[in-house]
Amino acid sequence: MSYLSIRDLDLKGKRVFIRVDFNVPLQKNAQGVMEITSDKRIKASLPTIQYALDHGAGLILASHLGRPKGKPNAEMSLQPVAARLEQLLGRPVKMAPDCVGPEVEAMKPAPGEVLLLENLRFHAEEEKNVAGFAQELAALCDLYVNDAFGSAHRAHASTEGMIKYVPQAAAGLLMEQELKYLGMATTNPPRPCVAILGGAKVSDKIEVIQNLGKVVDRLVIGGAMAYTFLRAQGLPTGKSLVEEDKIELAKELLAGLGDKLLLPVDHVVVSEIAAGAASEVVVRIPDGKIAVDIGPATIAEFSRVVAGAKTVIWNGPMGIFEKPPFDKGTVALAIAVAESGAVSVVGGAAGVTARISHVSTGGGASLEFLAGIELPGVAALNR
Ligand code: 3PG
Repeated sequence: MSYLSIRDLDLKGKRVFIRVDFNVPLQKNAQGVMEITSDKRIKASLPTIQYALDHGAGLILASHLGRPKGKPNAEMSLQPVAARLEQLLGRPVKMAPDCVGPEVEAMKPAPGEVLLLENLRFHAEEEKNVAGFAQELAALCDLYVNDAFGSAHRAHASTEGMIKYVPQAAAGLLMEQELKYLGMATTNPPRPCVAILGGAKVSDKIEVIQNLGKVVDRLVIGGAMAYTFLRAQGLPTGKSLVEEDKIELAKELLAGLGDKLLLPVDHVVVSEIAAGAASEVVVRIPDGKIAVDIGPATIAEFSRVVAGAKTVIWNGPMGIFEKPPFDKGTVALAIAVAESGAVSVVGGAAGVTARISHVSTGGGASLEFLAGIELPGVAALNR
């Protein structure tokens, strides 16, 4: 499916509303000021912003940040994002006090100017996708661009509702990039195509397993979700995280996937998950032990499969990667993916990003895409 692109729009002299995903992680510093801890999503939006400026548009940028539940909340203001964006763009970014209303209307940008609206979710109407609110947003602009792939699984006023009220709605460059890589990997991948799924729960990824199972040549499962599958095979899992109510489903998935599926063959186990806890590598998880990472034989086997792949789709870590040294399996596999030379499409944290073809900016959105679900923010764009 191809969508209208920002490259198809006549931007000169137009006021362009760009829905970006500036939902960045923030942390309060010692002075009580909110600071951005990763500006990846801001940087990922720069090509579209720069493109629109280079083509003579005035920009209205809009995003949500966090989940303020429909009320203003100073800790979720986009103000720190405006400051960071200003540094990255090297030009002034005006911060609006709100996202709708007379004050915002009075700040409408001229060509070459950039206005960042305040957090859309300070209004409950954004998530409820209320028509009147969507119309107010649409009234600010001449053209609409959605570059917020990370929010495309939300049918909110700024991602879906307002499109009815704008003359043209196009995909931004980041959105296009995301759809190109994720679309290629899930519909027409260079083969062999290997999917690696990890993370805590099978229940989060049932549809992804079912959908990718139809497309890929091998499906590699690591992370805590693997233990539910091991239990379904009748193997011991000790005190590892197992979703008891998903064991039957895991049996069905095992039967459906057959030889395509690859599970860990050894594990790093501990008695308790704590810094400095003694660990050992085992083939069968003993009673009372918790598996926290894939073991060396599994790393070798998964890496061998990845080395032969032409496409790799990866979502989710292989162990408790946020607690080193239990990040070893995830990091080793990230290196294997980078070294494979395959087209690699990665969602979520992986450690190594330098030689990955595409690291998605969307968490929930990329998972829904991999599950084969149509994203409302994409479906609403002009074809
Ligand atoms: C994300 O971070 O996944 C997106 O920005 C969507 O945020 P949400 O889950 O709060 O809708």
